[in-house]
Amino acid sequence: MRVPLLDHHARLEVPSHWPAALLPPALADIDARSPYLVCDLGTVRERHRRFSELLPGVESFFALKCNSSPEVLVALHEQGSRFEVASLGELRMLQAIGVRPADVLYSNTVKPAGHIAAAHAEGLWRFAFDSEGELYKLARHAPGAAVYVRLRVDDSTAMFPLSRKFGAEAHEARALLLLARNLGLRPYGVTFHVGSQCTTTGAWRQAVSAAGTLLDRLADDGIELTMVDLGGGFPARYVEPVPAIEQVAATLRTALTELLPYQPEVLAAEPGRHFVAESAVMVTTVLGREVRAGENWLYLDVGAYNGLFETQQTVNQWLFPLWTSRSDHATSPTLPFTVTGPSCDSSDTMFYGAALPSTMDLDDRLYIGSAGAYTLSYASSFNGFPPPATVFVG
Ligand SMILES: Cc1ncc(COP(=O)(O)O)c(C=O)c1O
Repeated sequence: MRVPLLDHHARLEVPSHWPAALLPPALADIDARSPYLVCDLGTVRERHRRFSELLPGVESFFALKCNSSPEVLVALHEQGSRFEVASLGELRMLQAIGVRPADVLYSNTVKPAGHIAAAHAEGLWRFAFDSEGELYKLARHAPGAAVYVRLRVDDSTAMFPLSRKFGAEAHEARALLLLARNLGLRPYGVTFHVGSQCTTTGAWRQAVSAAGTLLDRLADDGIELTMVDLGGGFPARYVEPVPAIEQVAATLRTALTELLPYQPEVLAAEPGRHFVAESAVMVTTVLGREVRAGENWLYLDVGAYNGLFETQQTVNQWLFPLWTSRSDHATSPTLPFTVTGPSCDSSDTMFYGAALPSTMDLDDRLYIGSAGAYTLSYASSFNGFPPPATVFVG
């Protein structure tokens, strides 16, 4: 398939909100071997602090899948953040830094039986589900556990939809929680996910409304749920505008007050991307520059497989903030470059037609911003190019 060029032709500049530790002058001072990710832990702490301030009473459970560097996990743990896991392996990473399994949510709805049993034996007691099959599995391998149902919600305004794979329909959810009770499990809560990098606040309002309707219906069955979990999807800033976290939080505060029939004991959220994406910049180096049939190619030491896999998931139509180490970065005319990786596979190409200085040359640095989420956690060592190391600052 021939991927069309990006229709974003403006020269990309350092975003004005970028932390000083990640600005090109500071990056130039770091003595590390390219490629590497520079991660500002101060930004991670600040995102968590601000999120908690804007959503008082909502406990955040950071989604490990997004960035599981021990340094990031420790920074969040020290701030009082809790965690959400998708597997026993992720739970083990948390145990290694002293997190109590009893404080962790297991939000993957379809789990290996062995992971359920081992997590339960370690003291994890809250498990998500969205099907009958999972309930029978949980009743067998985590008897008496607390369970929360994941609702299928509209994720059509998210960059990375999830509702095709996960979620029970609203009318199924009530019956599922009743079955849970019959199986000796504790009907504990409801959750949803509006899709990762959700771009409209209305998606959260609709989802809270669906959760409220379920709470209402369950009241007729004598069930009062303990937890409403708002899931993830809180956006980070890349190139295209997204609602600010202040706007998302304001929508949620109103929705939680207006649309739930009672205030649950536990209000939870599972932010991933929002806490870490903007905390990091990927520092890469130009290995080659070629013209192929009129198309300008830049070959970098990082590609889709060892760091930027989300560019593949979005069929290369999603742009990250890019800038360069060139002294003429701001003054040189630009050319549309196709930016690819170091492997022998053309599908490690990240951007088709990114506007970069026409003077780009071998050994120049290309900085890829907002690279702290779903980068290294997806990365492989395909073709012998390992994921970049991380340099922590802040
Ligand atoms: C269950 C669950 N919670 C939270 C998240 C985090 O989502 P995001 O990074 O969009 O905040 C994910 C991501 O896929 C998820 O699957």
